[in-house]
Amino acid sequence: MPIITEPDPDSLAQRGAFLLSRTALESVMLRGRFMAALSGGSTPRPMHRLLSEEPFASRIPWDKTHLFWVDERCVPTDDPASNYGAGLIDFIAKIPIPADHVHPMPTQLDPDAGAAAYQEELLRISGLQPPDIPVLDLICLGIGIDGHTASLFPGHAALSEAKRLVVPTRGGRPDVDRLTMTLPLINNAGHILFLISGREKADIVKHVLEGPAGVFPAQMIQPVRGNLTFLLDRDAASKMQGKAVHRS
Ligand code: 6PG
Repeated sequence: MPIITEPDPDSLAQRGAFLLSRTALESVMLRGRFMAALSGGSTPRPMHRLLSEEPFASRIPWDKTHLFWVDERCVPTDDPASNYGAGLIDFIAKIPIPADHVHPMPTQLDPDAGAAAYQEELLRISGLQPPDIPVLDLICLGIGIDGHTASLFPGHAALSEAKRLVVPTRGGRPDVDRLTMTLPLINNAGHILFLISGREKADIVKHVLEGPAGVFPAQMIQPVRGNLTFLLDRDAASKMQGKAVHRS
């Protein structure tokens, strides 16, 4: 499992945008389209902003790209806590992606109905029926200091969901109702990319990457067929003992 360490948040964002664009081109070449799911929170925002700037804006085949969300807070789009709302501001409003290729989670619905509706949308866009599981080309994940990822929080039922692809949950910061992709869907992806930045994540990074397995939700991310990359900045990697692929 590659662990790439970049010197700082800016080079982390650049490397993340490069990896995303490379996966997009590869997916379109091999399968005619690129299906990606983005996480929320603050870490990925510098990378998202780069996607609407050169060289990435013109490199990524937006007309063949579908954007999904790994999780969402059940708040209005204009709420600062909205992951989709942040994506609109950061890049989506500035790129030539077809409107029907952008798939925000339906947080205006009751959470149970929203989760079911999103699962149906994922299957429809993938041309699949249950119990098939879509293979998203790229899923970008973050990690909380408690080891959560997506909105899969330690000890929550969503973490052990084995059938549904999307479920309602609650927790995190802000502690609100949320929708989240589940492990069966996330682990079915072609590429899973963790982006982790900052000294406050150094302890959890050490526990997840070098501690006993099976403790934290982030350690349940084990792709069944695809590959898993950890992209860290130097601060987030600062308590690791092991080797990481350092970039200049
Ligand atoms: C969310 C995210 C969540 C996030 C981590 C890290 O919607 O809350 O998907 O899983 O990735 O909480 O958040 P930061 O990047 O803000 O530290």
